[in-house]
Order: sequence, then structure tokens, then C-alpha cells
Amino acid sequence: MTVEELTVGLIGAGRIGRLHAHHLTTRIPRARLLVVADASAVAAEACARDYCVPRFCSDYREVLADPQIAAVLICSPTSTHAQLIEEAAHAGKHIFCEKPLALDLAAIDRALAAVAQAGVKLQTGFNRRFDTNFRRVRQAVEQGEIGLPLMLHITSRDPAPPPVAYLQVSGGLFLDMTIHDFDMARFLLGSEVEEVFALAHSLNEPEIASAGDVAHAAVMLRFTSGAIATISNSRRASYGYDQRVELFGSEGSIAIDNAYPNTAIVSDRRGVRRDLPLYFFMERYAESFAAELQAFVQAVLDDRPVPVSGFDGRVPVAIALAAQRSLHEHRPVSLREVA
Ligand SMILES: NC(=O)c1ccc[n+]([C@@H]2O[C@H](COP(=O)([O-])OP(=O)(O)OC[C@H]3O[C@@H](n4cnc5c(N)ncnc54)[C@H](O)[C@@H]3O)[C@@H](O)[C@H]2O)c1
Repeated sequence: MTVEELTVGLIGAGRIGRLHAHHLTTRIPRARLLVVADASAVAAEACARDYCVPRFCSDYREVLADPQIAAVLICSPTSTHAQLIEEAAHAGKHIFCEKPLALDLAAIDRALAAVAQAGVKLQTGFNRRFDTNFRRVRQAVEQGEIGLPLMLHITSRDPAPPPVAYLQVSGGLFLDMTIHDFDMARFLLGSEVEEVFALAHSLNEPEIASAGDVAHAAVMLRFTSGAIATISNSRRASYGYDQRVELFGSEGSIAIDNAYPNTAIVSDRRGVRRDLPLYFFMERYAESFAAELQAFVQAVLDDRPVPVSGFDGRVPVAIALAAQRSLHEHRPVSLREVA
């Protein structure tokens, strides 16, 4: 018998949890969000109220113990993910977990083992893979449109840093932010990273420096295919969310530009200009967030493999750890050293 509807519990109703609640309740007919859990009852209640979810609670264990719930979305802070994956797997729930899966590989391995043992599905929240622009670049690689991929350039800059309280538990720039770009580089090139070299600083960002983090980074990756990737990150781009990619191959190149709220160009005596790009991830990647949840719900209901696996969640963490070591030891670091 085909199951028609996936019953879902949301754990963590902050920035990303609320976005997923919105998509689950408005854009994914085959999903039914039944309960919202947040350590802050106020946040849980507000989310349940705003998205017409029947129940809320402040203890995620209530969600895991609920036999009505078939799947959970883990959207709490990164430091809680691995433990929650383990507990959800033991409770027999299918799991969608936000990136990164955890801040260290041992915790991820324990979580992945629990998932395998329970036979549940785990999808990692690398939403950018579902963005139509990035998919088009991947398609060009798969179809040989630009020949052999040689050099990938990713520009990935945020308009403004998150609050210091978030930074302090985020794992730092490489594990929190560059993690998307590490995943994207693997996804686009279809190859694995062999070596990482990272430079970074926190110029002009005393708050980020005082949180022990870096604000701007340049990372180089060498892949097993021989291809090279560069990543340019910043926590603060004065002109807004800057998300561009160019992939240069033996037979051509493919590039994607920023997304804009409109296509208007203003020309006058002072120059030619346009409005700023869409402000941040909620706007720029809205469609991809809906598409990743749609894919998760379909994979569970139709019992097919999830499109972004636990392994896909683990590898970028290893790359991020290699980048951290490279930064601290001022040298290229082989992935074998950390993985
Ligand atoms: N895919 C993306 O582009 C993307 C974007 C933003 C955040 N994220 C990830 O999502 C996660 C959450 O980020 P955020 O920006 O929404 O953070 P946030 O701080 O806005 O929200 C986190 C929420 O979790 C709650 N919480 C804390 N501990 C909890 C627990 N044990 N059980 C239940 N709830 C708990 C907090 O009260 C808070 O409401 C992070 O891991 C982050 O890396 C991913």
C-alpha cells in the first residue's frame, strides 16, 4: 500500500526551522507538520501559531516518542545535531538534518551508524544542490558540455554576519558557512577533494575576531580528478548576498550570476546601475529549500534513496576540518590527515 502523507515533527524553530515550517505547510501537499519542538516554548508556540501547526512543545523527546510522527526535521543549533540524529534513529524516525551534521567526524560516524542500524533515511540539508542555476552547471558537467572540468571558482559572501551567540556555537566559518561551498564543489565537479589550502582573517570584524572566528577566507581545493577549485568567502559583503560560480573546462566555461529582485537597469548621467542582489539565503535560495524538502518527502514516501546522503553530509565536514588545520599550520593539508 502506498503511504500518501508523511507526518513530520520539527525540532528547532529558529531562522531555518521557521522557513521549513512555512514550506512544509504551504508547498508540500504530501507532508503534514504535526508538531513543533523548540527549547524555547515561546519560539515553538510562535512557529506553531504562525504556520497553523496543531501542537508545540519545548522537549524534542516528546516528538521522538510520538508514534504518529514518521519523520523529523532537525533545525536546532549544529552542536545538537549528532545527538538528535542518533536519538531520532533509535526512535525509528526518518531524518532531515540541517548542515553541518556535526562539528567532528567521530560524532557523525556514531550518528550514521545509528541511522544504518535503524534502517531509516537521513538527508543532509545541502539545499543549494536543488537550486536551478547550480543544477544547470552540474548538468553541463554531466553532459560534457564544457569538456573536462579544469577550474571551479566559487564566490560565496553573506551580506552580514549572524549574531555572535550563533557564531560561538557554529563551529566557525569553514564548518558553518564554507561547508555549503565544499559540498557545492564536490557536487559540481563529481569528484572528491584530496588536498586543502586555506587563508583567512577577520580584518574589520572585531566582534567575529573576539568570538575566535575568521570573517573572510580564500580556500583552494585539489580534487582526485586533478581539477582545482577556489572559494572566496566573506561574512560581510557591503553590496549584499554574493553567490556566483564559474566552471572552466577544456571545451568552454559555464557561469552563474547573482539573483536580483528585478531586471531593471537605471541609466543616467552618473552611470548605469541596477538594484542590489536578493538580500540573503532566505530570498536567494527560497525555491531550493522547498525543493529539498519535497525531495525528502518523496524519497521517504516512495522508499527511494535520499538525494543528499549522510555520507554527503560527512565529507564536507572533513574538508572543513582540513581547512581549519591548513589555516592554523600554514600549509596544504591532505584530506587523509583528517578523514
Ligand atoms: N541550509 C542553510 O542554508 C541553513 C541556513 C541557516 C541555518 N542553517 C543551519 O540550521 C541550524 C539552525 O540555524 P538557525 O539559523 O535556524 O539558528 P537559530 O539560532 O535561529 O535557531 C535555532 C533554534 O533551535 C532552538 N534549540 C536550541 N536547542 C534546542 C534543542 N535541544 N531542541 C530543540 N530546539 C532547540 C533554539 O531555541 C532556536 O529557536 C544550524 O545548524 C545552521 O547551520 C542552515
